[in-house]
Amino acid sequence: IDTAIVIVAAGSGARLGAGAPKAFVGIDESPILRHCLDGVFAAAPAQVIVVAPEEYLGEALSIAHAAADDADRRAADPRDVAPSPQHAGPAAVVSEQRRDLVTVVAGGATRQSSVAAGLARVWPDVDLVLVHDAARALTPPEVIDRVAERVRETGHGVIAAVDVIDTIKRVDGSRIAAAVDRSELATAQTPQGFRRDVLDTAYERATEEFTDDAALVADAGHDVLRVEGSALAFKITTAADLTRARDLVRRASR
Ligand code: CTP
Ligand code: MG
Repeated sequence: IDTAIVIVAAGSGARLGAGAPKAFVGIDESPILRHCLDGVFAAAPAQVIVVAPEEYLGEALSIAHAAADDADRRAADPRDVAPSPQHAGPAAVVSEQRRDLVTVVAGGATRQSSVAAGLARVWPDVDLVLVHDAARALTPPEVIDRVAERVRETGHGVIAAVDVIDTIKRVDGSRIAAAVDRSELATAQTPQGFRRDVLDTAYERATEEFTDDAALVADAGHDVLRVEGSALAFKITTAADLTRARDLVRRASR
């Protein structure tokens, strides 16, 4: 295994306000983390590092094991029905059991410290690391593979991103200061992939908090490219986002 994916799931979900850490809130009978893992296990095999809140480590491990075992079963029986909208085709088959790919570790107070905790557990032979938000629960496996393949082709950092659809204004208080050319903008998603050495060094040297890994790596002087993300890779942040995710999953299971 030469690839790892760090799934950050240690946030509290304050904006969702669902009474539990966000990754452990149900979309249907399965929580956000489980849906995210279904997509991850349908992508090319990788070490899967789940970064969870300290009090949810056991819960995270059982969710990850269940997702791994179900992915093994789906891979063995391609007639199996797709449980989520991101499951278009049969999953890739790996020789080892997917649960052997799972590592669970406690996160930190910020997303950046949670990623750092995950990076500390990457296996020695891994040379490409993807960082992915658990909250982007319905991310299609194709997006994950696309990011990893582009890092392999170019050696650069690569993020999933989509075009901006809203009309954006630069504002100065209540005044509209300028229109912004939408063609110059993209909405950043995850996964974001990097050469392992590049990401490790950038994290070791980071002295401030960045909003995503691409910003942290770019600040360390590296090029970052984008590949096409997906509307399904939206981040579940608010109650309205959770409702949307629930509708998508319900429709896909009919
Ligand atoms: N995350 C994390 N550790 C933190 C903060 C965030 O692992 N200390 C993870 C979240 O679990 C989520 C991803 O980073 O999968 C993106 O963060 P966000 O959507 O902001 O999630 P929360 O921080 O949980 O939500 P909120 O900001 O509303 O509290
Ligand atoms: Mg947050």
